[in-house]
Amino acid sequence: MAHVEDQGGTRRDFLYVATGAAGAVAAGAAIWPVINQMNPAANVQALSSIQVDVSSVEVGSQITVKFLGKPVFIRRRTEKDIEEGRAVPVAQLPDQNARNANIAADAPATDENRTMDEAGEWLLMTGVCTHLGCIPLGDAGEFDGWFCPCHGSQYDTAGRIRKGPAPENMHIPVAKFVSDTVIELG
Ligand code: FES
Repeated sequence: MAHVEDQGGTRRDFLYVATGAAGAVAAGAAIWPVINQMNPAANVQALSSIQVDVSSVEVGSQITVKFLGKPVFIRRRTEKDIEEGRAVPVAQLPDQNARNANIAADAPATDENRTMDEAGEWLLMTGVCTHLGCIPLGDAGEFDGWFCPCHGSQYDTAGRIRKGPAPENMHIPVAKFVSDTVIELG
């Protein structure tokens, strides 16, 4: 009897992971046509830089663009996201490096060192789990950030790893605002 129950547990775990992965694919697929219309350059992978118009991104939402073959999350954070991110002492973080290609390689993983603007509203990062490369789900997990359904890594509102097997914070690629509403990647 115990044996049968164990199998049931395994099957449920499997279904949970499969459902999470399908959700990630669906969310990703939904955004591509929008981005491609807004920014025709975004579907040309060979380009070394792209520009993304973020004027229609609402506070508390995220878009995903594809750059050099990888998803890039662009999140417009809420006040609560910012407060939560700033309240965490760096000493408590599993990875204390900012992992931000736009600042010094040894910069600490403060919330301020993770965001694009001083107010901390814009967070842009490569949407790839630093464990084995799955795409984490947004608005999920114990830390109100991202949850990776593959092996349970949990990231906070600044995309920093907080729990689970991933060794590093999600990486921030070279990116900057070139106007009030346009971000250039690369
Ligand atoms: S790939 Fe994300 S937890 Fe393993």
